Amino acid sequence: MTRYSDVQQALRDSPKTWLVTGVAGFIGSHLAIALLQLGQRVVGLDNYATGHRYNVDAVRDVAAATNTRFSFIKGDIRDLVDCKRAAEGVDYVLHEAALGSVPRSLADPITTNAANIDGFVNMLVAARDAGVSRFVYAASSSTYGDHEALPKVEETIGRPLSPYAVTKYVNELYADVFARSYGMQCIGLRYFNVFGPRQDPQGAYAAVIPRWFHALLAGEACAINGDGSTSRDFCFIDNVVQANLLAAAAERADAVNEVYNVAVGDRTTLKELYVLMRDNLVSEYPDIAGREPEYRDFRDGDVRHSQASIDKARKQLGYEPAVKIAQGLKKTADWFLAQHAAAGGPRSANRSPSTSAKTETP
Ligand SMILES: NC(=O)c1ccc[n+]([C@@H]2O[C@H](COP(=O)([O-])OP(=O)(O)OC[C@H]3O[C@@H](n4cnc5c(N)ncnc54)[C@H](O)[C@@H]3O)[C@@H](O)[C@H]2O)c1
Repeated sequence: MTRYSDVQQALRDSPKTWLVTGVAGFIGSHLAIALLQLGQRVVGLDNYATGHRYNVDAVRDVAAATNTRFSFIKGDIRDLVDCKRAAEGVDYVLHEAALGSVPRSLADPITTNAANIDGFVNMLVAARDAGVSRFVYAASSSTYGDHEALPKVEETIGRPLSPYAVTKYVNELYADVFARSYGMQCIGLRYFNVFGPRQDPQGAYAAVIPRWFHALLAGEACAINGDGSTSRDFCFIDNVVQANLLAAAAERADAVNEVYNVAVGDRTTLKELYVLMRDNLVSEYPDIAGREPEYRDFRDGDVRHSQASIDKARKQLGYEPAVKIAQGLKKTADWFLAQHAAAGGPRSANRSPSTSAKTETP
């Protein structure tokens, strides 16, 4: 038995009420679905800033199939009234709602600040006033900023390289102060390049994996910023779900009011990533085998390499990433292939979004 299977069994035996903010988003919807599958009661909050109704529908479908309770509040974390309404009667908060993307924050720091800092403090206040047992929140590997040493260990960070990174670091500072000032129990999870089914491939700030799957299937070019040696610790969504549940259920005194890296502890270059992704599509579409990426200049502000130490999460939470990149890419490829087929494949450029916008590699 692993710590994770123990936690899952304990939750099945004694269901709790959870608030998942950002439930219309990629990570939030996966969290909500995993909780419902464990028989939990889930409240979801989202304003659809970057999230989608199809994600909420996916959560609703699971609630119906498992006969569990899911209620959705369309609301904004920048509004304290919405936050308080959502936090009422909740045992655990998983706070995912935020505006992601480094380039977005550079283009519009005010809006990112409002959602990621004002909204964060609102959620902390609402959770405090509702007396929730634990507040688990999405922190970010961007907090390591310009510190170059690898692997990244939680205690050593550099200077933030973007407004987004500032907001995520400020979240950690606020959570720490709320823990010490009001006796709250908070845990921050520094996610490293999360990927998986239902991650949004569209829009100017899409992450690299969904964008490339979409582009490969649409017959469009995949662009690599730099020479392809840039590397990341790509983390499949199931590992992130595991980390959240372990954080919410952590019992060790030294586990609470801490931040943890959530990753796999591996490093994959963009060149390697491209090949892995392409190889996952060729059995269905053999002509993709010959496709090469386009190389562009390195992008200003991009961290060249990123890799997490996951020792702290292993030791204090019992975290053990179950899905490595190859397996995660296979599952993600299968999902994109199924979507493509459902949309009427074979590949057709006029069915697909533009891929000329900025691809996010950090
Ligand atoms: N995906 C990653 O690789 C990654 C890495 C590090 C950190 N994170 C963090 O994880 C969290 C979830 O990211 P994601 O990838 O699922 O992004 P996402 O954009 O898919 O989900 C974020 C959700 O928050 C909602 N939201 C934004 N502003 C809101 C507001 N003012 N009120 C209510 N809802 C609002 C959006 O509509 C969206 O549904 C974010 O906090 C993000 O910063 C993600």
